Amino acid sequence: MNQLLHWHSVEGMGMDDLPEGKVVELTLNGKKLCLLRKQDQIFAFAATCPHQSARLCEGWMDARGHVVCPLHHYRFDPANGRNTSGEGYKLRTYPLEVREGIFYVGFLD
Ligand code: FES
Repeated sequence: MNQLLHWHSVEGMGMDDLPEGKVVELTLNGKKLCLLRKQDQIFAFAATCPHQSARLCEGWMDARGHVVCPLHHYRFDPANGRNTSGEGYKLRTYPLEVREGIFYVGFLD
């Protein structure tokens, strides 16, 4: 059975507010999450690392476009949450669409 996504718009933020490679934290639908721009793609994912809850907005994007946690430097693919440095964790990700310049993040709520 498909679960229904509820889309929430990110007010007051556009492409110009997301410099490529900078992890930006925000609160949406009562949840803290992060956005990351890689070229013309935007990804949304949990604000904290699945390892020991470091704030990923203090991390950075590596040359492969993966999020690097600031605490122990585990890496995650922001497209699917895969732990690309191999420790076996999974970063929660959220679907994101850009419609007429406005970001929408999908939640299962
Ligand atoms: S808290 Fe992120 S890698 Fe340890």
